[in-house]
Amino acid sequence: MRSKVTVVGAGNVGATTAQRIHQLGYADVVLVDVVEDLPQGKSLDMLESAPVMGSDAKITGSNSYEATADSDVVVITAGIARRPGMSRDDLLLTNMRITSAVTAEVVKYSPNCIIMPVTNPLDAMVQNVFVSSGFPRNRVFGMAGVLDTARFRTFIAEELNVSVEDIQAFVLGGHGDDMVPLTRLTTVGGIPINELMAEEKIDQLVRRTRGGGGEIVELLKAGSAYYAPSAAITQMVEAVLLDKKRILPACAYLEGEYGINGLCVGVPVKLGAGGMEQVMEIKLTSEELAALKSSADSVQELVEVMNKARAEA
Ligand code: NAI
Ligand code: 2OP
Repeated sequence: MRSKVTVVGAGNVGATTAQRIHQLGYADVVLVDVVEDLPQGKSLDMLESAPVMGSDAKITGSNSYEATADSDVVVITAGIARRPGMSRDDLLLTNMRITSAVTAEVVKYSPNCIIMPVTNPLDAMVQNVFVSSGFPRNRVFGMAGVLDTARFRTFIAEELNVSVEDIQAFVLGGHGDDMVPLTRLTTVGGIPINELMAEEKIDQLVRRTRGGGGEIVELLKAGSAYYAPSAAITQMVEAVLLDKKRILPACAYLEGEYGINGLCVGVPVKLGAGGMEQVMEIKLTSEELAALKSSADSVQELVEVMNKARAEA
């Protein structure tokens, strides 16, 4: 029997994610949205591509959650996206309300699933879904680090004219402008990047990575990135469904690791059939730890705004 993956939100990120997962062929996909007929129309279109693409997996669309029952993995992309001039944080309270409502339905119909929030501001939304779901931390973790790392790897590969496959990089911290690309641990075919590139060039690529989401928003004007985000989500879903035990950066609830307690922040984790099976705690320099702490402080500020809004509601 094939696995079952639900994608909530049939917009740019949700639809491209559903398409990528459906095309892999090893999971049936349910696409959900509040807009009438939208997930039905998009999923039927994707289903009709199956004979050409060679996927026997099913894909259906729905405006209700009954069809999502007993999903193995649920990806939440529902919410509003950035437009030019907006930061991810401007989306906070609207997307908090949306992800809370979505989580209640997801938990009702798939009490044993793994939830991967994608909606921004990412770290705050993961915290919101984690708290609202009541799930253990291994079953709620968000996508951002794989995307941020992919951007960093793309820029390095372009600069050095080498294969993207040979670049290993890690970006830690919140999915915001103060994310922490770990250049010390970034390698090209095992060679430390600082042996191949001047410090100023590395700094320039770090800055471009931090602003990577904004760069796309400025170009698209009417929305934010979705091709690279959907590829990143698909890699994480695949790691779980195929029990790959991949070491990837993801936003996870920390319980003292890296000196952070009770907060969802991007760190390296092991992803397999059990979801987030382990937080990989590596030794950071004092400078790296300070940068991670400062990034975590920005997430904490958003969590406090959400807590206040909840208390006033
Ligand atoms: P979009 O506007 O294209 O799609 C959002 C969809 O959510 C819409 O179809 C809308 O009808 C739906 N929706 C709204 N409320 C809903 C509800 N209560 N239940 C079900 N569906 C609902 O936006 P896009 O580009 O797909 O982005 C989605 C979210 O993902 C945004 O918050 C964006 O900022 C975030 N994002 C996060 C990334 C990350 O790295 N974590 C990367 C890219 C986007
Ligand atoms: C991105 O980084 C908008 O968070 C989204 O592209």
